[in-house]
Amino acid sequence: MALIYVTRKILDSGIAHLARAGHTVDVSTKDGVLSKDELIATLSSKPYEAVLCLLTDRVDKEVFDAAPSAKIFANYAVGYDNIDIEEAKRRGIVITNTPDVLTDAVAEHALALALSLLRRVPESERFLREGKYEGWAPLLFLGAGLRGKVLGLLGAGRIGTRVAHEAVRGFDMHVIYHDVARNEVLEKEYGAVFHGSPEDVLQAADVISLHVPLLPSTRHLIDAKRLALMKPTAVLINTSRGPVVDEAALVAALRAGVISGAALDVFENEPALAEGLAELPNVVLTPHTASATVEAREAMAEVAARDIIAVLRGDAPAHPVL
Ligand code: GLV
Ligand code: GLV
Repeated sequence: MALIYVTRKILDSGIAHLARAGHTVDVSTKDGVLSKDELIATLSSKPYEAVLCLLTDRVDKEVFDAAPSAKIFANYAVGYDNIDIEEAKRRGIVITNTPDVLTDAVAEHALALALSLLRRVPESERFLREGKYEGWAPLLFLGAGLRGKVLGLLGAGRIGTRVAHEAVRGFDMHVIYHDVARNEVLEKEYGAVFHGSPEDVLQAADVISLHVPLLPSTRHLIDAKRLALMKPTAVLINTSRGPVVDEAALVAALRAGVISGAALDVFENEPALAEGLAELPNVVLTPHTASATVEAREAMAEVAARDIIAVLRGDAPAHPVL
């Protein structure tokens, strides 16, 4: 039976699953992200054959060197930009992720952010808690509705498609999108209209929601030039990866009224925020919690555990990323 390392405490169900399969599971006892040195020291200390890692772990050549017995790194996330995939491929190390099981949670969070921003929920809640509420007023915290508005998706994979489902079925929104490939389901089921460039989507949408992976080609997909194309009444929602947005350019655009607001679950230099971002009234910020439902996080643990068990048994994992 194998030795498995889990780089941070997750919900017990996944760990229990690994243990039930007869493996020995060590879980980091640190209350926080292991530093690179700590991760390397721990992995070098025992012949771990599998590692369950998080999106906050940078997994590269040095980490792989520290775990020469490891057959699999199962990333507890759908995104895997934290892992050097090419290096893993060269070494024949299996990398898996946890798609599908968090799609609903992330899509719901994108909508929650959009509604919170447009209906000014956090801002008006702060006002109330500060004791400033003096009674109903016709112009108090006027916001904007979603019904009939245009949702612009940049990235139309599983999560983007689910956001479209909710937006169309729940709010009668119209969907336009751009991605590297056309998405037939999105077009047929939800009447989404493909646009040939991100610029075309940015110019026409009321709500822009980002659902691309972080790749060299999507880094700073949203920069000052593209923000300037958006309607001044439009808002930007980001539940993908922070570096997809040039955060300093976004702060400048929000200050200058180039766009009306932004709701962000991810940040360019997490956990740090761009200077001035947290002081802006027209932003809603959450700490990378889009997949943080009990349902999603339990299922993610289970998916990662099953793939580890499969690989240790010599079988193919269900969610390889390459
Ligand atoms: C979260 O950001 C994920 O990629 O699962
Ligand atoms: C991620 O799960 C995506 O394909 O959107």
